[in-house]
Amino acid sequence: MANGPGNGSYYDDAPPSATPRVRTPAPDLDAQPPAQIRRKVVANTPEPPPQPPSASSRLRAQPPARSQLRIGIIGTGGMAAAHAENFLKQDGCKLAACLDIEPAAAKTFADRFHIPKVAKDAQDLIEQCDAIAVVTPDTSHAAYVLRALRCNRHVLCEKPLTSTLAEAREVARAAKDAQSRGVVGMVNFSYRCASAMHHAAWMFGQGRIGELRHVNAQYVQGWLCESHEPSPGALWRMRRATGGGVLADLGCHLLDMVTAITGDIRRVQCVMGNFPKVSKSGENFTRWQGKQLDADDTAVISVEFAAGGMGVLQVSRWACGRDNTIKVDLHGTRGALVFDLDHSYDQVHHHELAGKRWNTERPAPAPSGWKRFIDAVRTGHHEQPDLVRGAQIQAYLDACRRSAEHGCWMDIEPWM
Ligand SMILES: NC(=O)c1ccc[n+]([C@@H]2O[C@H](COP(=O)([O-])OP(=O)(O)OC[C@H]3O[C@@H](n4cnc5c(N)ncnc54)[C@H](O)[C@@H]3O)[C@@H](O)[C@H]2O)c1
Repeated sequence: MANGPGNGSYYDDAPPSATPRVRTPAPDLDAQPPAQIRRKVVANTPEPPPQPPSASSRLRAQPPARSQLRIGIIGTGGMAAAHAENFLKQDGCKLAACLDIEPAAAKTFADRFHIPKVAKDAQDLIEQCDAIAVVTPDTSHAAYVLRALRCNRHVLCEKPLTSTLAEAREVARAAKDAQSRGVVGMVNFSYRCASAMHHAAWMFGQGRIGELRHVNAQYVQGWLCESHEPSPGALWRMRRATGGGVLADLGCHLLDMVTAITGDIRRVQCVMGNFPKVSKSGENFTRWQGKQLDADDTAVISVEFAAGGMGVLQVSRWACGRDNTIKVDLHGTRGALVFDLDHSYDQVHHHELAGKRWNTERPAPAPSGWKRFIDAVRTGHHEQPDLVRGAQIQAYLDACRRSAEHGCWMDIEPWM
């Protein structure tokens, strides 16, 4: 499917030329993972203490609990359609405005989703909305998120949170501040909708595999194996200067999924590769429309976990024969946990060393990020993955980049 407005929705990090690569996870199922699973998953960012009522209700985020929530969408390309469709499925939400750097794209999007207003700029959009989805290329996330938070608007930001760690720290600080005014900020790590991940986190927390020794995880796609001539709008994904590259694109999802189970990473060693692309006539090329296609398109990350154990995380756009494959294997002293989202979002295979057998557990489906975001806005209950969590993942990506540049292990820098 081509990138850009007017095309069918896509939901994963599908390349700009493909058919939808991952089934759309059930967006508004009421089933929640068991409470203990939810607690474990948020454990890497502890619940904040309850906030005292603000001195001035005027300063608090709007609207009151049961009114129609007005949603604004910034960036109206491929992923924005998934936001529009999923927000429309949430109770009491309406799409109030949209904005794009390309006004014609915003207009087409507004017509498609019956959005009454194409905003003329960010302030115009913010004034007409209670909650904002930031769905632009990564380099522009920080500016929009900061602006929205400062205006007390709830924000759901696309992943990765930002394109640098410095920006992520600024957003994390602003998010903490805004949280005390009742403002919700979350990152759309969309695979949090996979109950397999939540259940694996819960099982791991229960000690079902003993002490962690080794993790083998991959998130790979194969779209670069076919001829790939990017449209002007899709060029940003393939250039370093515009924040493209597979490490940020798929690596952020994988780092979030793995560490939501294992806990924090202490240090990383990363190697990244960039290969010539293939034209429609079968020739190799490295520049397109005068621009160098220099973003990483494959990466291998070795990690050491803070709680012990090591792992290898792989991301690639060169996995020939794979559309959108996510697999995680965790091996411990007493067993193993394995899930494969190609196969199922809601199954975890467990090897029990004592009994020398594999069992499959089938947790109830988990809610989508849009549902969790809207629930958090409605209830004021803090939800994950929040913007501080987004900054933590940015710290991991930053360490990977430094490691690839210097050719050695890198410690994780603080993200707050
Ligand atoms: N969570 C997921 O599964 C998932 C999947 C795909 C993309 N994404 C993320 O969503 C974001 C957008 O990706 P996409 O695939 O929709 O990209 P895209 O290129 O299809 O669309 C981006 C849109 O933003 C507009 N735009 C560019 N700069 C802008 C700016 N400064 N202000 C306003 N509009 C601007 C473009 O004109 C375009 O319409 C990225 O951060 C990407 O990583 C997430």
